[in-house]
Amino acid sequence: METKVFEPGSEIKERARIKSMEEYRALVEEANKDYEGFWGRLAKEKIDWIEPYKQVLDDSNAPFYKWFIGGKLNVSYQCIDRHLDKRKNKAAIIWEGEPGDKRIITYLELYYEVNRFANLLKNRFGIKKGDRVVIYMPMIPEAAFAMLACARIGAIHSVVFGGFSAEALRDRIIDAKAKLVITADGAYRRGKPYLLKPVVDVALAKDCESIEAVLVVRRNNEEIKWHEGRDYDYNELIVQESPNCEPEIMDSEDPLFLLYTSGSTGKPKGVQHSQAGYILWAQTTMEWVFDVKENDTYWCTADVGWITGHTYIVYGPLAAGATTMMYEGVPVYPDAGRWWRMIEEYRVNQFYTAPTAIRLLHKMGENEPDKYDLSSLKILGTVGEPINPDAWMWYFMKIGGGECPIVDTWWQTETGGHMISPLPGATPIKPGSATFPLPGIFAEIIDQEGNKKEPNEKGYLCITKPWPSMIRTIWGDDERFVKSYYSTCKKNGKPVYFSGDGALYDEEGYIWITGRMDDVINVYGHRLGTAEIEAAIGHHPRVAEVAVVGKPDDIKGESVFAFVVLKSDEGVADELEIMKEINKVIVKDIGPIAKADEIAFVPGLPKTRSGKIMRRILRAIAKGEEIKQDTSTLEDPSVVEKIIEVVKR
Ligand code: PRX
Repeated sequence: METKVFEPGSEIKERARIKSMEEYRALVEEANKDYEGFWGRLAKEKIDWIEPYKQVLDDSNAPFYKWFIGGKLNVSYQCIDRHLDKRKNKAAIIWEGEPGDKRIITYLELYYEVNRFANLLKNRFGIKKGDRVVIYMPMIPEAAFAMLACARIGAIHSVVFGGFSAEALRDRIIDAKAKLVITADGAYRRGKPYLLKPVVDVALAKDCESIEAVLVVRRNNEEIKWHEGRDYDYNELIVQESPNCEPEIMDSEDPLFLLYTSGSTGKPKGVQHSQAGYILWAQTTMEWVFDVKENDTYWCTADVGWITGHTYIVYGPLAAGATTMMYEGVPVYPDAGRWWRMIEEYRVNQFYTAPTAIRLLHKMGENEPDKYDLSSLKILGTVGEPINPDAWMWYFMKIGGGECPIVDTWWQTETGGHMISPLPGATPIKPGSATFPLPGIFAEIIDQEGNKKEPNEKGYLCITKPWPSMIRTIWGDDERFVKSYYSTCKKNGKPVYFSGDGALYDEEGYIWITGRMDDVINVYGHRLGTAEIEAAIGHHPRVAEVAVVGKPDDIKGESVFAFVVLKSDEGVADELEIMKEINKVIVKDIGPIAKADEIAFVPGLPKTRSGKIMRRILRAIAKGEEIKQDTSTLEDPSVVEKIIEVVKR
């Protein structure tokens, strides 16, 4: 654990909204004393209500909490319309394509784009409040327009990351019973055009009866097939729509979007978020954690297909009236200086990215940042996984010039927004620690009975009170929601939210995340369920059994390590061939992000007598560690030696 502490400098203190630990503690105290009063105050101050709410929190049906009962609002109004008086000509979105093409969209233009899009959805496709719309898009402004257009008419969007395969897309379409898919012909990546629309065609080839139409945005004008009567050309249709569209009046608790994420079983979970609670926290954390100011340019490098892209590229920055940047391509095209050049050119003030990207860029160009003027930067952020001190120091010194606080933000798809994070003008930071819970967030490290852990003792990272931007349920599966999040830990006899992560306090109460306690792994900052990868590998006809574990990796965070038992004793003469085939199955079922880095063909898996696979043993073997676990309870203890032999080869 790093012991260095970096205090916020005077410049950042001066400009920050929360300027000291005293101010931070005062907010924490306010929430402690009067929890509902605290949230009610924020909701009144920050949301432009169409009708005020009547009650802050309804906990009568826990854990199905409800916030801001009776309130009426529209999230697209909160993100766009209400800024027009003061900011109509301010850049809302600055976008750069990978080939270098640029678009700057002002708030007024955004208003027209979103309204036209909303009218198109309503008038042409009959999309109504509550209908589900799947968005399978590259990083182009239309992805944001599509999300906001859904919000405007009350449709529930489900953005599916463009790196997911046709099968994965199909599963999500079916689960949500979506009516419409919005996609693009393709986009640019690593200097080349690629295609998305054909993936949609494959997905829709079976079992997607709910889909009535496909709307295609033309980005790279590559040739694609058009299905008469099903596929529509966005660029042709959009110009025919009126630029005015009344926002639908939404209830605080109406669903805003679904976002599928991995859990410990094979089936992804449709995390359901609400309107008011979500947008309140997206906006508040933008202000507190990134401290965006009127003239700032804020850049988050995530993809809109993940929660970070939802909350901190689209909803949070726009609700806060900020200028948000969006970039289409990879960080290393045409070279490892691409992002640094963009920071210089656009004079970016806040930069938010993932540790895996920092490690990659560090490795590819240690001194590359020296070539650029990065002095506009004020605040740096990280998200998605613990950051190692090496990467942290490089980011801090080379990118931030030793003067920009790093906000290491811990949160999840389910939490909607930041939960644990430094405040840039207040918190003394330690490399690798997400520091303290934000005011109003009761994040605690406890045992399963709710006793707070002593320093340096690992425990369950829980959130012991409900919060406005929390997951409402898993789409269509209330039972799984309760089981996944509210069945592991209790406090004062009542179930509390368990994040799935382990963590510990240090002597000064700083929180250090130690990683997932379930079978979820983190590859390139992407959350993947080992069960999902196992299910995919199991589809290969020669595979009898499989167990997947994460193995620590210097760049990716974790790599995918698969232990595979093949059917029959034909041997594995064609080992390389089968490995390739297995990866093909993974790419088909999930997408290239889940490919196995290492596959070991083993004679058996370490199982208890009741048939449970002892993954801890496999994790240790993958890491090349000594086996400390007691193997005598295994059905066949000798299998462990045999596996080690295979892996050593
Ligand atoms: O394990 C934690 C890790 O990412 C998980 C959440 O993944 P996802 O829902 O995809 O959301 C990622 C972006 C919010 C968490 O359970 N994680 C996230 N942020 C951090 C982190 N681990 C350590 N430090 C962080 N700052």
